[in-house]
Amino acid sequence: MVEIIGPLTARPSYRSLVMNAYFLPHAFDSSFPETLDPKSLAYLNGQFIALEDAKISVLDRGFLFADGIYEVVPVYRRQPFLWESHLRRLVRSLNAIELTSPLNEADWTALVHQIIDRQAFDNQFIYLQITRGAARRDHAFPQKVRPTVFAMASEFIRPSQTDRGNGLKAITVNDERWLRCDIKSVALLGNVLARQKAVEQGAHEAILIRDGVVTEGAASNIWLVIDDVLVGHPRDNLALEGIRYGLIETLAENSGLKLSLRPRSQSDLDRASEVLLSSATKELLAVCAINQKPVGNGQPGPVFQRLRAAYDQIIETECPAGQVSKIASVA
Ligand SMILES: Cc1ncc(COP(=O)(O)O)c(C=O)c1O
Repeated sequence: MVEIIGPLTARPSYRSLVMNAYFLPHAFDSSFPETLDPKSLAYLNGQFIALEDAKISVLDRGFLFADGIYEVVPVYRRQPFLWESHLRRLVRSLNAIELTSPLNEADWTALVHQIIDRQAFDNQFIYLQITRGAARRDHAFPQKVRPTVFAMASEFIRPSQTDRGNGLKAITVNDERWLRCDIKSVALLGNVLARQKAVEQGAHEAILIRDGVVTEGAASNIWLVIDDVLVGHPRDNLALEGIRYGLIETLAENSGLKLSLRPRSQSDLDRASEVLLSSATKELLAVCAINQKPVGNGQPGPVFQRLRAAYDQIIETECPAGQVSKIASVA
């Protein structure tokens, strides 16, 4: 058992930490509530406890090495949206970092439903994080260490009518991340620095460019409309395959829109008539200005409108009103 090494003098309260983090200028993402409820129920290593009581060791390899992965699952009306796809990606990420899944698929599903049922909100985000656990600091994998499993929920404030109607602003930034961006790893420093640059310039998102290729956003996938074709980055190691990839493919096909996955150049970005952004938190939004220049006519365009309507419809179909999530037991 590894102890947290203390003591910490004049330790700031949990609330002041959370509040200060959120009151930094521009640093607020409107998908999340302004404060996290410290009393909300989280899950840590087999137990449901208040978020403020969830503590891990300073020797946790997630803390020391970012040796872990995560998932963010949107929940509408208490039903996880596209959960099977999130579960498949979670398992894929664990396999990619050679970490044996600490729960089986049925138990992951049960855990997610239990977290949902314990929150006050109908629309939520479930955050799941698994690290290789706490051990003596050494780069190579430790033997016989229990992975850390953490889950929490927050209220999901869906993109506003203003965001839908006006679109978002982005800047372009050099993609300085590692070469396994396909893994949903907690090693997000490159993404953090890029997003911060965007925020400091009054933009919502940073569009990342590696060796002339537009890969993705700091926390989103980027779609270009070029000659009436929706163009996304190929499924490869340079970008995370968002859960919205498969969804957008289906929605595009259903609405008669051609879709192509190929590397996109800076000049593709410059000539795109529309730029769209997708993620669990932003769902699907138009990017209407890049580096302070309008995209197309500076308004969300017809492809966005079509796909956005289809996205709303699929939420209705997948997470209909009047359903309740089932409580199942976690082993
Ligand atoms: C780097 C990156 N790419 C893409 C996405 C979109 O993935 P998803 O649609 O699964 O939210 C995210 C989501 O956070 C992300 O962080």
